Amino acid sequence: MTKTLTIALSKGRILGETLPLLEKANIVPIEDISKSRKLIFDTNHEHIKLVILRATDVPTYVEHGVADFGVAGKDVLMEASTKNLYELLDLKIAKCRLMTAGVVGAPLPTRRLKVASKFSKTAKAYFAEQGIQADVIKLYGAMELAPIMGLADLIVDIVDTGNTLKANGLEARELIAPISTRLVVNKAAYKTKYSEIEPILEMIKRAVEDNE
Ligand code: ADP
Ligand code: PRP
Ligand code: MG
Repeated sequence: MTKTLTIALSKGRILGETLPLLEKANIVPIEDISKSRKLIFDTNHEHIKLVILRATDVPTYVEHGVADFGVAGKDVLMEASTKNLYELLDLKIAKCRLMTAGVVGAPLPTRRLKVASKFSKTAKAYFAEQGIQADVIKLYGAMELAPIMGLADLIVDIVDTGNTLKANGLEARELIAPISTRLVVNKAAYKTKYSEIEPILEMIKRAVEDNE
């Protein structure tokens, strides 16, 4: 019997690039996700369902095995530090960079560094690796404000065009990691549902190659 497969998608900016990619892989929701308040969708394949989640919740659903596949940014995956999932594929969408940034021209203080970020675990690990002692302050958005308001010396945030930094008198400093969207799978599901997972993985792989 064919087992049901659930794919957890990140809503927000990734979703707009994920749906055309899935369509190329012949996985199409049967109703328009953008016009619905529903969070779970049937597709043109009877055994494939899509769930739409906050980007940061995608690794949690896949980690617990309630979703088999997940589509999430590398930034979110790094911060989630999950053990029960494999990163199968780079979908090569929503490309950006995770960087440190500070006020244009401002020197770093001689005291212990203050860093503000939504990516607090990743930021801690990065500065520890550099041998720099830093206090990391957890924020949930608008990180660009922190150095301007004196809450932190540096931020760790996503940079794409650099427009947000520029508009707030900040400059990018160090690259922490290049970011793109990844396809992840629950480790147990990868074994128990291999015969369902394998053909879907192949179709998505081909869709990614097609996009290049
Ligand atoms: P959130 O509300 O959590 O910030 P977004 O929809 O803005 O969610 O971002 C989702 C993902 O898209 C991020 O985890 C990251 O991988 C990627 N991303 C975020 N900002 C940008 C950007 N400016 N350009 C390209 N990709 C981005
Ligand atoms: C993201 C990120 C930066 C900005 C970078 O914010 O947190 O603020 O995009 O893009 P840029 O370099 O092209 O300006 P987003 O617009 O997603 O806002 P939010 O996550 O704070 O809601
Ligand atoms: Mg965002």
